Amino acid sequence: MNEDSVRERASTGIARLDEMMDGGPYRGSVTLVLGAPGTGKTCLGLEFIARGAEEFGEPGLIVTFEHFPKKLLRDAISLGFDLQELERRGLVRILFTSPEIFFEQAQASGGLLDTMVQELGARRILVDSISHLERLTRDPVKMREIAFTFTNALLRHGLTALVTQEDPGITGDMAAAQYGISYLVDAVIILRYVELDSSIARAMLVLKQRASSHDKSIREFRITGRGIQIGEPFSDREGVLSGLPRKREIDAFVEVFGPKGKAGKGEVK
Ligand SMILES: Nc1ncnc2c1ncn2[C@@H]1O[C@H](COP(=O)(O)OP(=O)(O)O)[C@@H](O)[C@H]1O
Ligand SMILES: [Mg+2]
Repeated sequence: MNEDSVRERASTGIARLDEMMDGGPYRGSVTLVLGAPGTGKTCLGLEFIARGAEEFGEPGLIVTFEHFPKKLLRDAISLGFDLQELERRGLVRILFTSPEIFFEQAQASGGLLDTMVQELGARRILVDSISHLERLTRDPVKMREIAFTFTNALLRHGLTALVTQEDPGITGDMAAAQYGISYLVDAVIILRYVELDSSIARAMLVLKQRASSHDKSIREFRITGRGIQIGEPFSDREGVLSGLPRKREIDAFVEVFGPKGKAGKGEVK
C-alpha cells in the first residue's frame, strides 16, 4: 500500500480483516456487519472502536439500542479491551438510547449526534444494531428513506462507521437485500455459523467493498480474550455459505485447519 491509500483507509485494528478489505474500510465510509445473533457482530464493533482509540488515537462513539453500557464494558473486558479506561481518557463514549430518539437527533443539525461527535472529536462510530430501526416503520419505502437519512447522518460527520444488523439466518446475498441499507453502505461483512462434523465454527466474508478489490474468500474466525482472530480461508465458498458444508468441503476444511483437536497449517494465529 502506498502512503495515499494509508491516509484514505482506516484500520479496523484487526490486521487480517484489513487485508481482506484491501487495506481497511475507507475513512468516512459506512461498513455493515451482518450476522445471526451471537456470531460476533458486537465483539467486532467493540474491537473496531477500542483499537481505533488505543492504537490509532481515533476517538470513537458507541451507539447502542440493546445493551446497557455496563454490559458492553464487561464484553469488552472479556475481549481484552478496557473501554472504561478509554472513556476516562476521553477517547470513547457510549450512548445508550432508543432508535426513535437517535434517529430524530441524528437528522437535526445541532442534535445529540452532532453534539456528542463534536465534544468527543469522534472519528469512528459503532451503531449496534440498526435492526432496531425496523421498529420505526413497517413500510418498505419509508424504511428505505430512513436507512438513507440515517446513513447520510453518519457520513455528514466524516465518521468511519460500523453498523451491525441482525441476520435471522438467511443464506448468502439475500440477507444483504433486507431493507436496502446494503445498497447505501460501502462495505458489507458477513458473519456466519458453520457446522462442521457436529461442531460449530464461525466464518467471515467481505461480501462487497465499493471502489476496491477485496478478498473473496471465507475465513474462519474465533472470538478470544485478545479480540477476534481470523484464520485461513475455507476452500469452498458455496458450501460454507450454506452453513452446512457437504462432505467435500469438510475434507477441504480438514485440509486447511487440520483434524479436530490437532492444529493444521491454517491454525488461527
Ligand atoms: N473472550 C471471549 N472468548 C470467547 N468467546 C467470547 C468471548 N467474548 C465473547 N465471546 C462470545 O461471543 C459471542 C457473542 O458475540 P456478540 O458479538 O455479542 O454477538 P452478536 O452481536 O452477533 O449477537 C458469544 O457467543 C460469546 O460467548
Ligand atoms: Mg450484538
